[in-house]
This record gives sequence, C-alpha cells and structure tokens, in this order.
Amino acid sequence: MSLLEVEGLVKHFPVKGGLFGGTSGHVRAVDGLDFEVAEGETLALVGESGCGKSTVGRLVLRLIEPTAGKVRFEGDDLLALSPEEMRARRRRMQVIFQDPYASLNPRMTVGAMLGEPLFLHGLASDQAARRKRVGELLELVGLRPEHARRYPHEFSGGQRQRLAIARALAVEPKLIIADEPVSALDVSIQAQVINLMESLQQRFGLAYVFISHDLAVVKHIADRIAVMYLGKIVETATTDELFRNPRHPYTRALLSAVPLPDPTAQRERALLEGDIPSALAPPPGCRFHTRCRFARESCRRDVPALDDDGTGHATACPWWPEFPPAPLVAGAAGRAEDRLRLDRLQAAFVRQTEAT
Ligand SMILES: Nc1ncnc2c1ncn2[C@@H]1O[C@H](COP(=O)(O)OP(=O)(O)O)[C@@H](O)[C@H]1O
Ligand code: SF4
Ligand SMILES: [Mg+2]
Repeated sequence: MSLLEVEGLVKHFPVKGGLFGGTSGHVRAVDGLDFEVAEGETLALVGESGCGKSTVGRLVLRLIEPTAGKVRFEGDDLLALSPEEMRARRRRMQVIFQDPYASLNPRMTVGAMLGEPLFLHGLASDQAARRKRVGELLELVGLRPEHARRYPHEFSGGQRQRLAIARALAVEPKLIIADEPVSALDVSIQAQVINLMESLQQRFGLAYVFISHDLAVVKHIADRIAVMYLGKIVETATTDELFRNPRHPYTRALLSAVPLPDPTAQRERALLEGDIPSALAPPPGCRFHTRCRFARESCRRDVPALDDDGTGHATACPWWPEFPPAPLVAGAAGRAEDRLRLDRLQAAFVRQTEAT
C-alpha cells in the first residue's frame, strides 16, 4: 500500500466576472492527476510557475476541496473523514513553504513556536519535557537549544527554513509537502537545506512531495519525478531514468534549461518558446502543442494519455519514439560522456554542500 494515493484529482477555480458578477469561467489549475508516494520516498512535482503544483499540495493537505478525485493517505479516503479525524491525520502530514518568514509567527519565540504543537498534540508531558524536546528539535535541524529564546527575525533565511522544518518534525509526521522549500535561498544554502532534508528522511523514514520549478534542485533529492504542464502530468519516471531518457518535448525543454558546469557541453537549443497559455482556456488536444516543436496536426485535436511503458516511465505524448534523441541522452558525444556531465552537475551540487 502506498502512503499517499491520488486519483483523478481535479481543481477548477471559478472566476467571477461579467456584468452580473456571475461565474465567467474556470481556472483549470489541476485537471486529472494520478500519482502515488510510498513510505520514505520523495516524489518531485516539477513544472513552470502556474502549472498547478501548489494547488496539488493544498489539495493533498485538504486545505482546499477538490472539484473531483480521491486522496488516500495511509489507506484512508481523506475526503470522507470527519473534521476530528482529519485533524488527527493532519499531524502526520506537514507542510513547508517557500517563504518560512511568512509561516513563522514574528511575535513568538522559537521555543514557544516549537512548544505549541507539542502541547496541542500532547507530545510532551510537562514544561520541562517540552523544553527538552524543543532543544532536541533544534539540534536535529542544525541549530542550538539556546536558539529557543530568539525570535524569527534574528535568523537568516536558511536558518528560518530550518526552523520551519523543525516545526514540521515536532509532530512526527510521515509525509511532508515541501512547496518550493529552497527557491528563495542562495544556491549554497539550498544545498545545505536539501541535504538536511535528506538526512532527516533517512533517519525518520519520511516521505516528501517536493514541489519545485527547478529540475536541477530536484535531481539531488527525488526518487521519482512527475513533470506537470497546465494542470496535467506529462511525464513521470525515476529521477535517473528521467534525466537519462527524457521523452516528452516539455521535459526535454526543461532539461535543456538545467545549467551544465562544463561550458563546452552541447545543449539542446531552447525548445520552449512563448508563454505558458492561460489555465482559463488551455489549448485543446495536447496542451503543449502551442509550444511544441514536434507538434503535428492531430496534436491540436487528440488528448494524449499518460501511457506507462510497463517500467514505470509514463509519457503523455504518443510520438516520442520518433523524436531524435535528446542531446543529454545520446548526443554526438555519446552516452558515457553525457552520463559524465550529469555526474558533474551533481558533483557541483555536493561540493557546495561540503564547503559549508
Ligand atoms: N484561489 C485561486 N483562485 C483562482 N485561481 C487560482 C487560485 N489558486 C491558484 N489559481 C490559479 O491556478 C493555477 C495554478 O496555480 P498554482 O497551483 O499556484 O501553480 P504553481 O504552484 O505551479 O505555480 C494558476 O493559473 C493560478 O493563477
Ligand atoms: S502530443 Fe504532439 S504537441 Fe503534444 S508533446 Fe507530443 S508531439 Fe508535442
Ligand atoms: Mg506554487
């Protein structure tokens, strides 16, 4: 059984407008999503801004209600739970946002902020036990027990994200939804926070849904990646497989934007032209056809299914076998050389971490 199972998830936001203030249309933010997350696993949701990633996170946490679809957590249908039952589940599902400052109460000391969930969920018997646990939580995320007396503004951006992680850990969750958790941080700090998340995952068997617009960030932490475009998953595979054999033209375009440390490395020319179309009126047929360099007539009409080839690599484009190999896969330099480039990219990331 998967820890989290999402089936046919849809969220359409009504848009008010028109002369009489009625509903003039719907933003199709999430439009039929299926995915699963196993215990201890990291699934990355990747795609450009506006493709629906944060909406998926909010739906899974049941901060908003879906238009259609199912969310099962530890086998239970979350949408069928009573408010009390949902409260109990919520403890096992935590969230970390891009801007930790916005989610930390500026008038609360760190000790009070971390102590609160312990108190509310009865996780520490008295004040002394609470203080001890707060100290442990701070040490878990690389801070010091004496930091409990400080206020959020006394910390750097990276430290504040560590505080947000500590607060999520306080209630001993199984799943953390991390919505662009490092996107506001400097690159060197990004690597530190990601490494922290990885070590906490190993230690506590946490699962992550890691939301990011940046494939390079996700490469380091994700077991599997789901690439989203305009409310739909267009490709999903293990991280290694997706980087080695990207199939969907959109994934290929995103990968071509991943910076390579070697300046002589060949890159696929920019494939992504034009803006992402409005989610109010997504293009018919394949939603990517307005920006796809491989588009053909039928793409304007036929909606491609997300087809799994039996190995867990699924692609929402029937034409991918006909495309020339993506240069990162087997360009002029060959596969071994490409592997090397990806390794270097990853090595650069790890070096930054070790340097700090
Ligand atoms: N509460 C809302 N009301 C109307 N539209 C929304 C609302 N929340 C998000 N959207 C729209 O849904 C789409 C997906 O947004 P979002 O999930 O935030 O994307 P992402 O996190 O990938 O940037 C966007 O077009 C956004 O404008
Ligand atoms: S279905 Fe057509 S438009 Fe869509 S990604 Fe494939 S080739 Fe491009
Ligand atoms: Mg978002």
